[in-house]
Amino acid sequence: MKWKTRVTELLQIQYPIIQGGLAYLAYADLAAAVSNAGGLGQITAMSLDNPEVLKKEIRRLKTLTDKPFGVNFAIGQHGRPYEDMLQAAVDEKVPVISMTGGNPAQILDYLKGTDVKKLVLTAAVRQAVKAEELGADAVMVVGQEGGGHLGRNDTGTFVLVPQTADAVSIPVIASGGIADGRGLMAALSLGAEGIEMGTRFIAVKECVHAHAAYKEALLKSTENDTAVIKRSIGAPARALSGSFTDKILQLEKESAGYDGLKDYISGEANKKYIYEGKAEEGFGWGGQAAGMIKDIPSAKELIERIAAEADAVRERWGTWKEVTK
Ligand SMILES: Cc1cc2nc3c(=O)[nH]c(=O)nc-3n(C[C@H](O)[C@H](O)[C@H](O)COP(=O)(O)O)c2cc1C
Repeated sequence: MKWKTRVTELLQIQYPIIQGGLAYLAYADLAAAVSNAGGLGQITAMSLDNPEVLKKEIRRLKTLTDKPFGVNFAIGQHGRPYEDMLQAAVDEKVPVISMTGGNPAQILDYLKGTDVKKLVLTAAVRQAVKAEELGADAVMVVGQEGGGHLGRNDTGTFVLVPQTADAVSIPVIASGGIADGRGLMAALSLGAEGIEMGTRFIAVKECVHAHAAYKEALLKSTENDTAVIKRSIGAPARALSGSFTDKILQLEKESAGYDGLKDYISGEANKKYIYEGKAEEGFGWGGQAAGMIKDIPSAKELIERIAAEADAVRERWGTWKEVTK
């Protein structure tokens, strides 16, 4: 079956499946594997030190795939200016730029008049409407089930997607809690025209930067094995739970504030776990979809499986209602 939605058309991809920005994990290897498999792979710009390093990584990616790919920008993350990084991506003629974590107005403005396809990741209907007004080509909406940074209102994917689809005319991409073909078909039923997955793409062979302990923890997780940290400082984000996140939650209960938390929630603490597997010294982002991860396939195996599962759902739909004339 050939997939055709406004998302596959816009991004020129075979399947309406996007690999989300994954801080410190989404480099050329993973992005190329996803794009080569017919989805949209992405490099996460803000995990790279400077524009030159970003350019190098984009060039490396271009040697690994001739398919469309994206570069993800977390606006203002790490307090680092992103303008130079953005220019580097534009110079390298990247096909797609996705952005999140702040007001996208400046980036969207900057990209006006270029051929770059602009995706904005939001967690609220109002923000999606704003993104459309500002010139986004598509909006991704992430529900509170998702891994990594979330909206502040705990809105779930199932209510966010249809309300966003009603409110905007550009295509909607559903994100948060999706890990298989059932999730893809559910998202399409809700009015989305594609999906973005973050947590599921950590547990693939080509996510080579993720430590084996992190992948193992994803395999063992149930739907209850995540925790939302950083809520007390207005930046809720979902991580795999464990003694380190327990400690963070305890500090938050004690009103530690940003200063008391900063060493525990830093990029360094994140890397301690995801690169070195040191569960006592760091944390790894992960969403509730972790409970659905049972293996570590290649990106191609995963994407083809999701497409086959989606086909199976479509066939089952046909059996649920008797058609009479
Ligand atoms: C390990 C990890 C790191 C993430 N880093 C980023 C990031 O740097 N930029 C971004 O836009 N989103 C980031 N996200 C969010 C994902 O792109 C995606 O929106 C989210 O994971 C979707 O929910 P899911 O985990 O249920 O698939 C991250 C998610 C995870 C799990």
